Amino acid sequence: MQGERPSSVSSFAAVNVPRYTSYPTAPNFNGSVGAARYGDWVARLSPDATLSLYVHVPFCAELCLYCGCNTKAVRRRDPVDRYVKTLSAEIGLVASHLKARRVSHLHWGGGTPSILGEAGLQTVMERIAGLFDLSALREHAIEIDPRHASPSLATVLARIGVNRVSLGAQDFSPEVQSAIGRVQPFDLVRRSAQMFREARIHGLNLDLMYGLPRQTAAGVARNADLAASLQPERIALFGYAHVPWMKKNQRLIDAAQLPGHQERLAQARVAATVLTGHGYRAIGFDHFADPRDELAIAAQRGTLRRNFQGYTTDRACALIGFGASSIGKTPFGYAQNAADIAGYTRAVQAGRLPAVKGIALSDDDIVRARIIERLLCDFSIDLDQLARDQDFREELSALAPFADAGLIRIDGRRIHILEPGRSFARLIAAAFDAYLPASLTRHSAAV
Ligand SMILES: C[S@@+](CC[C@H](N)C(=O)[O-])C[C@H]1O[C@@H](n2cnc3c(N)ncnc32)[C@H](O)[C@@H]1O
Ligand code: SF4
Repeated sequence: MQGERPSSVSSFAAVNVPRYTSYPTAPNFNGSVGAARYGDWVARLSPDATLSLYVHVPFCAELCLYCGCNTKAVRRRDPVDRYVKTLSAEIGLVASHLKARRVSHLHWGGGTPSILGEAGLQTVMERIAGLFDLSALREHAIEIDPRHASPSLATVLARIGVNRVSLGAQDFSPEVQSAIGRVQPFDLVRRSAQMFREARIHGLNLDLMYGLPRQTAAGVARNADLAASLQPERIALFGYAHVPWMKKNQRLIDAAQLPGHQERLAQARVAATVLTGHGYRAIGFDHFADPRDELAIAAQRGTLRRNFQGYTTDRACALIGFGASSIGKTPFGYAQNAADIAGYTRAVQAGRLPAVKGIALSDDDIVRARIIERLLCDFSIDLDQLARDQDFREELSALAPFADAGLIRIDGRRIHILEPGRSFARLIAAAFDAYLPASLTRHSAAV
């Protein structure tokens, strides 16, 4: 393995790049896609197409200062109850456009999906089960805030068929927790993991973060150790994306307490060392999995995928998003629902699909999407296999500094991301992003 040169490497860490949960990325969506176009795309899916469903719940009891998700704090019950009704109506509306019915993956995200309440979750689930074929459902996952977990919630989730729970752990130290406005001692996370296991929900993921205010490499290493002690099948390790120009709640974070780029890199690396030391396999640039977990198996077989939830085994033909701000993906393009809950509700009440923006995929987008996805999943691509007819001369020469820094190796038309380059995978993949110059500053740091 080649060594890396620290000076150029730290300058790479300072560049802003997307997380590539889609290509083209969401900042490139525009008003050319709306209800009519998305309706047409959905209707063109074949009756045999497998579907992945995503239900977005944009509410939390209170906002964490670091949060970059599409969510808002809600104190009263009525907006949430109204949202359950709107979601149910939207599910019916979308189903009326679709011939495809077979669902392989179902994911509840947010926000805090459990805020719908046990009755609300069951209502939405019954609506889905009444309109879709769930007999081949492989993965049914939900994002859970451990502060709002309870044995009765775990029982309800098991009853509606949830088989994977993702707990937001972030950081276990009291100093960091107070700086990010999210106090949840380790023992609370431990008890919540236990509740789901007792309810026989065995797929457990923990979200950890680095790059948060007051975090140190030693603290992040300790978080990784504690997370591993709970023996989750998967651990996600997200670098804090500080985008206060987009997220008002982040303006309350004291930027002076944020670790610098070198420190972020050190935190990411030490966490990876600790987790792999515990026997986890590194998956892509921000996930870790038990070698027996299907994510690890997919990574080994080269069948790992990337979607809006990050790394996944989901290979469905289309992703159908329900809820405000949710994104759908069809082979023809992406469509995003209105993010403002009032606008989303008005559209659904008027019997209109609430899609307000998106992007149709060109042939070039499809080729680049595949290159970026394979680079981020396999850390290695062969352009002769993925895009025989395009020379990508400019992209290859843009990658020369990464090769000089020992982060990648280029063999003719093959690109391999080397071990030290894994933390920079998004930046390396960005060389193939034809939209990037226009949207560069709208993203967060590369590491
Ligand atoms: C929807 S939340 C998880 C569920 C639940 N709301 C919770 O917080 O426990 C999804 C995850 O995104 C990550 N996240 C949130 N804001 C982030 C940011 N600004 N940068 C990086 N990751 C972030 C956190 O790790 C969080 O657990
Ligand atoms: S991190 Fe989770 S709980 Fe905190 S504000 Fe974001 S979505 Fe809500």
